[in-house]
Amino acid sequence: MKQNLASSVRFILLLFLNVECLNEQSPPGKPEVLKCRSPEMETFTCWWKPGSDSGLPTNYTLLYNKEGKEQIYECPDYRTAGPNTCYFDKKHTHLWTSYNISVKATNEVGSNISNPHYVDVTSIVQPDPPVNLSLQVIQSAGILYLWAKWSPPPLVDVRSGWLILHYELRLKSEEREEWETIFVGQQAHYKVFKLHPGLKYIVQVHCMLDHGKWSEWSSESYIQIPNGALNTDVLYTQEMYSTRESSSATLIISRAAPWKA
Ligand SMILES: *[C@@H]1O[C@H](CO)[C@@H](O)[C@H](O)[C@H]1NC(C)=O
Ligand SMILES: *[C@@H]1O[C@H](CO)[C@@H](O)[C@H](O)[C@H]1NC(C)=O
Ligand SMILES: *[C@@H]1O[C@H](CO)[C@@H](O)[C@H](O)[C@H]1NC(C)=O
Ligand SMILES: *[C@@H]1O[C@H](CO)[C@@H](O)[C@H](O)[C@H]1NC(C)=O
Repeated sequence: MKQNLASSVRFILLLFLNVECLNEQSPPGKPEVLKCRSPEMETFTCWWKPGSDSGLPTNYTLLYNKEGKEQIYECPDYRTAGPNTCYFDKKHTHLWTSYNISVKATNEVGSNISNPHYVDVTSIVQPDPPVNLSLQVIQSAGILYLWAKWSPPPLVDVRSGWLILHYELRLKSEEREEWETIFVGQQAHYKVFKLHPGLKYIVQVHCMLDHGKWSEWSSESYIQIPNGALNTDVLYTQEMYSTRESSSATLIISRAAPWKA
């Protein structure tokens, strides 16, 4: 009797292990919608992360419905923004509407769906950083200052006047740890006084629309503040562009002050 019991336990155990082995082919893990971002309040992109790998080929579909509406749509464009993304062009982007977004993973065994991610386009606006930040040291009537100017991120349509960008500039001398951040307002240029002669400064700018978040900081631009007194009518200009790809510098010393021309 005891032996019988032992062998049937063994049998059940074997059966169980077998079933476990067969079950190795499982539905995909649960995907996750990571974030959605709109760079200019006209289009937006969502990113997702696949779930744990089931070892089987898996297809992902992004599904969404709008607040209070039953109808479910599929992502209009999986290509434009790269792998594991969905791009909503102007036609598919509606302001002041809540989107309910989920990602469904499917393999030949079954499917798994992410938690819903709720998005209102006006609350996910984050522009790209400003571009072409250039720096000049200008000495005028014995006063030395740093003239910084830049261009708005190309995607943001500032010409129409519909969107307004606000800027902040930050700078520090090379040996300092902390940045000094200055709220600039809507203009794409700024004069910095109170500079220490002889030091090299690092400057960055970022921007924000009326809604949403600050952009990342632009790439860094550097400028060396000249040491010692300069002839009052001598303009000392040092311009330096630096991007991730390249950097170049121009040094111009002239007698004519162009801002007087
Ligand atoms: C979905 O994935 C989660 C974790 O990735 C898992 O625990 C769950 O069992 C899966 N659901 C289905 C229906 O396979
Ligand atoms: C959001 O979408 C998910 C998945 O399609 C659904 O289960 C859920 O009920 C939806 N929520 C609302 C508020 O529509
Ligand atoms: C994935 O999508 C391709 C193309 O639509 C289809 O042929 C394939 O059967 C799908 N695979 C699964 C597991 O759904
Ligand atoms: C930035 O500078 C580059 C090179 O000078 C120029 O081609 C580009 O049009 C500028 N971009 C903007 C937005 O001003």
